[in-house]
Order: sequence, then structure tokens, then C-alpha cells
Amino acid sequence: MSTLNVNGRPHTVDVEPDTPVLWALRDALGLTGTKFGCGAGLCGACTVHLDGQAIRSCITPVSAADGKRITTVEAATDGGDKVGAAVHAAWVKHDVAQCGYCQSGQIMTATAFLKSLPPGKQPSAAEIDAAMSGNICRCGTYARIRAAVADAAK
Ligand code: FES
Repeated sequence: MSTLNVNGRPHTVDVEPDTPVLWALRDALGLTGTKFGCGAGLCGACTVHLDGQAIRSCITPVSAADGKRITTVEAATDGGDKVGAAVHAAWVKHDVAQCGYCQSGQIMTATAFLKSLPPGKQPSAAEIDAAMSGNICRCGTYARIRAAVADAAK
């Protein structure tokens, strides 16, 4: 048994300590917004926040989340998080998603990136590309991702 703090609430999950956070979220808690892509920390589809930092949940064991706050795309985009809500709105405005599979991970990386910026800082295209470079989109929606992140930063 492990206790995870997910989206502001404690959850007891019946998983081994070395179970990836991804599977605790999806299988034990039913939070399927977080996606499985490569399972090897390479694609970013499984990105969630751990104490506000974007992490790969497919290679992060439940034991590493002990005493920390996990935030998933469900909470980041439910309107209660100002930056997450701005990113979500920009995603819709710019019609970013094509197949959509990587988008929750993209949104989580973008949200953590924007929160890491000093107040009032408008990131350059190069800074956005660098921040988002670990999230792969096989549909190639990178131009729309860049535009949406820039818009959400305003
Ligand atoms: Fe975790 Fe690809 S599924 S990085």
C-alpha cells in the first residue's frame, strides 16, 4: 500500500513502491488523462507535476512521490489553476491537437514552464521550443504548440 497526494487529496493505492506513478494514476485511480507513450522517459506523454516540477511518470516510482504533491492534467485544466487554465484555453483557441495523444503531456510541460518564468516575462520562440523539446508530437503540431504557449504567457 502507498499513499499518494494527487490533485490535492490523499489516496491510498494498492501498488508496489516501485510501480511507476503513471500506472498508479491510470489503473488505481482512474486518472486516464495521463498517457502512456514510450514507457522509457523519452516522449513526454506521461508528464505530470511533482511538487510543481514536470516529471515523467512512466519512470518515476511511487516511492519517489512519497510526501510530495502530484498534479495531473485533470486538475491543471479544471479552471482552478490560473496558468493551467490559460494554457488550456490557448490550446483550444489555437486548435493545437491533431490526434491529441501527446497533448496532456504537452500541456503539463507548458504549464510548469510558464510557472517557472519571472512575472511578466514573455518567452521567446526559442525558449518555448527548448522548454517543450522533450515532448514529442508525432502529428508535428509544434508550430501550434509554440503559438499556444506564447499566447498563454501573455
Ligand atoms: Fe513516459 Fe514516454 S511514456 S516519457
